[in-house]
Amino acid sequence: MERWLAGEDLPLAQVADSVRAWVPFAADSPLYTLFATRIAEDQELLRVLARIPSSPPINILFAAVQRLLTRDDALAAWYPRLAGAARPADAAAYEAFRGFVLEREADVLAFGSRRTQTNEVRRCAVLMPVIAAALAERGWDGPVHAIDMGASAGLGLLMDGVAYQYGGTVLGDAPLTLECENRGGLPLPAAPPVFATRTGLDLAPVDATDPEQAAWLEALVWPEQTDRLERLRAAIALRRTAGISMVAGDAAATLPAVADVLPPGPIVVWHSIALYQLPDEALAAVDDAVVAVAARRPLVRVAFEPQPGGGADLRVGLRPREVAPVAIAHTHGAWIDRPYP
Ligand SMILES: C[S@@+](CC[C@H](N)C(=O)[O-])C[C@H]1O[C@@H](n2cnc3c(N)ncnc32)[C@H](O)[C@@H]1O
Repeated sequence: MERWLAGEDLPLAQVADSVRAWVPFAADSPLYTLFATRIAEDQELLRVLARIPSSPPINILFAAVQRLLTRDDALAAWYPRLAGAARPADAAAYEAFRGFVLEREADVLAFGSRRTQTNEVRRCAVLMPVIAAALAERGWDGPVHAIDMGASAGLGLLMDGVAYQYGGTVLGDAPLTLECENRGGLPLPAAPPVFATRTGLDLAPVDATDPEQAAWLEALVWPEQTDRLERLRAAIALRRTAGISMVAGDAAATLPAVADVLPPGPIVVWHSIALYQLPDEALAAVDDAVVAVAARRPLVRVAFEPQPGGGADLRVGLRPREVAPVAIAHTHGAWIDRPYP
């Protein structure tokens, strides 16, 4: 019995360590900071967490709770999306949270194999001016074929169907306006680019037109990020009628075949916060695929990816790692700036 307890204790201690290591990433969410800090000391909740196979389990747990939570649950009082004026994160919030998880454990664990795959449409606000400038530089002023590598639910391909606001400058007119601070005064186009076709490549495309998959995307948004939730909902509504094709598979393998069957015309291929976790060989395979397509037809590539030293930047080039950034930006698209000298 003692040995069994010791064996049980060891993995839970490791789960607790991984939760503690996750806490700094929740700095934007007082509720998740509180919950994660307390979960790390709570054997019963650690036991639930240990049974979640997807990674990181803490994100899956939080999303599962949001997916299941309704206005009628006591815990809803702390969730701004459900309670008009949410209560501040306090000890009672954690008690309500752990009570909910333990009572609904089987329902929570039913989400255990889901992915933490998100899609932030506001990234369009930092990609769009860079893409517009790259197209203008090449004299491509007509419609172009758009390909997003690592497109998730394809919401980035709404780039030509949303409006933008950079301070006092508004571009386009659409049901969804993306606000972005143009800190560096980067040149803005008169209008967003126009796409002839829109194709998203992803290892595991999310079908945002499927109510359950859309609800899971919403559940992954943190409770306090009500503006992000509103944007997501508006983007999903636009996505239902937008002409977007999604292709499943590794972008290095699918890009050439997809590009080869597009009607004539230039291609803009981009990726946002998608390929940075790939090992070098896989990144090189994507680069080689882009270069091969560019040898057959006009193509420009824009990369918006986090950099090892911190922050994220935008680069224009067939092999982005070999060129200097043209801009830096907030990873969720809140601002764009000129690169630091
Ligand atoms: C963090 S999400 C970002 C999604 C979207 N680009 C955005 O900005 O919101 C990263 C996406 O890249 C996809 N992905 C990662 N590696 C890939 C690859 N080699 N080929 C295609 N998709 C990939 C993942 O499946 C995931 O949907």
